[in-house]
Amino acid sequence: MDKIVYTSDVTSIAAEQLTGFFVGWPNPPSSETLLRLLQASALKVLAINQPKNQVVGYITALTDGVLFGYISSLEVLPIHQKRGIGQHLVQRILEDMSDLYAIDLVCDPEVQLFYERFGLKHCSAMIARRYDKLFP
Ligand SMILES: CC(C)(COP(=O)(O)OP(=O)(O)OC[C@H]1O[C@@H](n2cnc3c(N)ncnc32)[C@H](O)[C@@H]1OP(=O)(O)O)[C@@H](O)C(=O)NCCC(=O)NCCS
Repeated sequence: MDKIVYTSDVTSIAAEQLTGFFVGWPNPPSSETLLRLLQASALKVLAINQPKNQVVGYITALTDGVLFGYISSLEVLPIHQKRGIGQHLVQRILEDMSDLYAIDLVCDPEVQLFYERFGLKHCSAMIARRYDKLFP
């Protein structure tokens, strides 16, 4: 099985390394859009398989660096799931935000148990989704 390395440095990442994500999205954003998302996120961790050098998982967070942090995205490619990669990504980003008062995220009910492993608690939320703003 490939070795997985983790990095927060996206400066040398190319869109070609970011294929296969947004599984199940009716109009999935492109690899180029994912690269922009990673570059623009305040915090990120990538899981990269070696020697193929493909990104197989990523997590991003937005933060003011003072009190609040928001985990904005997390995904592991299906064939690499259940290997501990998602858990490692969450642990890394929580460490990066360990000085903050609040860590928030929005998720589907199927993933709540996964996040509870890290001490996160269920809470109600208010959201908006503007599908016309999704980039292909
Ligand atoms: C959720 C996700 C990131 C988990 O990644 P993963 O690499 O498969 O997770 P891990 O292998 O690190 O799992 C760690 C543990 O959590 C458990 N787990 C994984 N997904 C779970 C889920 N949805 N519900 C409950 N437990 C879960 C695993 O069984 C494992 O338990 P173990 O240590 O007792 O064996 C992955 O399934 C995924 O990308 N899903 C699609 C996108 C998504 O839902 N992202 C979250 C958006 S908020």
